[in-house]
Amino acid sequence: MEEDEIEQNEENNEKEVSSDFEYKDIKDLPGVGSAIASKIRNAGYQDIIALATANPMTLVEACDIGEPTARKIVAEAREASKMNFMSGLEFEDKRKSVQRISTGSEALNILLGGGVETQSITECYGEYGSGKSQIAFQLAVDVQLPLEKGGLEGHAIWIDTEGTFRPARIEQLAAVKGLDPKQALQNIKIGRAYSSDHQVLLVDKIPELVNADPKIRLIVVDSMMALFRAEYVGRGTLADRQQKVNVVLHNLQRLADRFNIAVYITNQVMARPDVMFGDPTAAVGGHIIGHVATYRIYLRKGKKGSRVGKLVDSPSLPEGEASFEITSNGIADLDEEKKK
Ligand code: GTP
Ligand code: MG
Repeated sequence: MEEDEIEQNEENNEKEVSSDFEYKDIKDLPGVGSAIASKIRNAGYQDIIALATANPMTLVEACDIGEPTARKIVAEAREASKMNFMSGLEFEDKRKSVQRISTGSEALNILLGGGVETQSITECYGEYGSGKSQIAFQLAVDVQLPLEKGGLEGHAIWIDTEGTFRPARIEQLAAVKGLDPKQALQNIKIGRAYSSDHQVLLVDKIPELVNADPKIRLIVVDSMMALFRAEYVGRGTLADRQQKVNVVLHNLQRLADRFNIAVYITNQVMARPDVMFGDPTAAVGGHIIGHVATYRIYLRKGKKGSRVGKLVDSPSLPEGEASFEITSNGIADLDEEKKK
């Protein structure tokens, strides 16, 4: 890490995140260039962790390399992935550096244990118009606020897969919070993904962006599954799709860990004809996202134009619900009248 980068981080975080949690790409391993790296990926080993568990003989065939080289590459991958272990004490220290971004609604913040957390993936799923993107707009503005106002004085990255990013909405929300609207927009890097492969590439680019701008504290992916869902039709390719989604999610989680960043992803729901009772909807992407996301919020439309967020399967927080509304000023708590 560069020296000024460390300074920045110290400024942003109460405590520096353990920096030995090195993010490495396969191509950065000694003896692996981009040509071999891409062959390794084609052989199904998408990241260092996967490669660390590979049988060297598989690589000999798939990458057209000698056995000693293959053994060396796997050994290097094992060495590099050792960094994923830390003592319980170190883990606790790292957890202490977790920070939270306000969603704009106190009720929703409380439901999430204080706001959207860094070092975690928060997934928000719900039907069309339920407010998933609106929460993302609010977070992208609120992350820029000072700590005492629910922000991290940070910047954001926004991966837009549906073409629904609206600069005007950012400017409007920024003005409400007393930020300079143009500057607020300047502080958000937008990547428009046109295909699922493109989405994977954009996520791969993030470490570079964060190195260039250590103030980045929020990554939005709106929406996570839209392109995958459109491209992988029919159940035959489902395993393929899930494997790719899995890689993206794990990369996002690693970024969240390494740089103390909050990741917020949105997801649509699909009708579940097999569910006869209760709410017949389920998040697209099924269990894979469920297992990776630390916080999952199910959003639905409530009474009198309100929205209801339900916390689903949280590891540490009780399940519960929070009502809020979407106003021209952004996400807000319901007024007393509407609570009735
Ligand atoms: P999809 O992306 O279509 O799946 O939906 P989504 O969950 O992302 O919905 P989104 O966050 O875009 O919410 C759209 C809703 O927010 C609209 O239907 C409006 O009810 C509300 N909304 C958006 N902008 C404003 C605004 O300026 N004022 C008010 N009062 N409501 C707004
Ligand atoms: Mg949306």
